[in-house]
Parts: sequence; structure tokens; C-alpha cells
Amino acid sequence: MKVSLSILTVDYANVEKSLSGIINDVDYVHMDVMDGEFVPNISFGYSFVKSLRKLTNIEFDTHLMILHPQNYIKQFADAGSQYITFHVEADCDVKETIDLIHSYNVKAGISIKPNTKVEEILEYLPYVDMVLVMSVEPGFGGQSFMTNSIDKVRLLKELKTKNNFNYLINIDGGIKDTTAPYISEFVDMAVVGSYICNAENPKENLLKIKNI
Ligand code: DX5
Ligand code: ZN
Repeated sequence: MKVSLSILTVDYANVEKSLSGIINDVDYVHMDVMDGEFVPNISFGYSFVKSLRKLTNIEFDTHLMILHPQNYIKQFADAGSQYITFHVEADCDVKETIDLIHSYNVKAGISIKPNTKVEEILEYLPYVDMVLVMSVEPGFGGQSFMTNSIDKVRLLKELKTKNNFNYLINIDGGIKDTTAPYISEFVDMAVVGSYICNAENPKENLLKIKNI
């Protein structure tokens, strides 16, 4: 399974040291951007993403948990994101925001929170490059995997196959060695944060997930 490494729980002052030895072995780096409005937590902004761009050439999978994503797309594109994903529950026109992301030659993703159904995003599926299913309530790392996400990634895979859609299926929250087997046959990649970043041996846990 491909891994998008969420760096949310690393020590930001020692980010280079914390990620050395793993950053170039992951498939994507997942940037969790939180504004304290869409979610009850604040993380980091585009200057931090831009600084991390100097550490690696791995693709950045930027996850905007912010209320007004359309106001910040240019900044996150310029900071070096290859994918920018925003929430359909945010206060924005979803199709316009997808088009705006594409106008910067960046791939566009949409994300759904645990209470949002796949049926609610059907009209956008032909236009997106990624669908990110939240398997925890967004806001914090280290939470437990919610099993209602399994049916969602299964359905997204069925729809993708049936309609020849191009989006990658991604899942975010509580992914570790014991939960990854539930979703591995349906997803193209998975976001993994604390299971790798807070591990005694991050490399070992990364390899365990990649081999599922
Ligand atoms: C939650 C974030 C996730 C999270 C993943 O709001 O979007 O990316 O940090 O971390 P783990 O793997 O610890 O659930
Ligand atoms: Zn995330």
C-alpha cells in the first residue's frame, strides 16, 4: 500500500531530524493544514509547507481543513503542493474550487468527514484527482479508526471502476498495522501519521504498512 506520511504530530522545531531516514521512503507527504475554524485546532500554514519543500522532492499531498479554502489555493500551490485537497463541508463552491486548483496545474482532491456520505459528492467525481475519506473526525492525530469509512472506500472503488474515473482513493485517520488490512484492497494510498511518526522505530512501522 502507498503511504502518505502525515507530519502533524512531529516536533516542528526538529522536523528535519525527526523525518530523516523515512521522508524519502514514503510515497507522499501529507500536510494537515488547520485554521481553528473548520476544525477545533490550528496547525501550520503555507510558509511551513514551503520550508519543507527544501527537505525532499517527494510529492506533497496537502489537506486543507480550513473554512475558506478558495482564498488560499494559490499560496499552497506556490508552496510546492502536487495535490491540494479541501473539504466539501467547507464554505466554498466545490466545483469552482476544484477548477481553481487545476488552474495552478495542481491536482485537486475533495475530502468527506465521517458524517458525509459518498452519495453527496457524486457530481464532483468526474473532475477530481483524489477523494480523501476521513476515518476520524478531522482536527487531531492519534485518534481511533472509524469503521464506517470501509463502506465508503469500497463504494468509491466500485464507482471508479464502473465509470473509469481517475481519482486516487485515499483514507485518513487511525491507519496502522491492525486497521490497514480492512481498507487496503479498496484504496490507492493511505495517510499514516502517529503510527509512524510517534513510533520507536518509524522505519519499521512504515515498512509494515507498505507491505500490507
Ligand atoms: C486529522 C488529520 C490526519 C491525522 C492522521 O485531522 O487529517 O491526517 O493527522 O494522523 P493519524 O494517523 O495519527 O490518525
Ligand atoms: Zn489529513
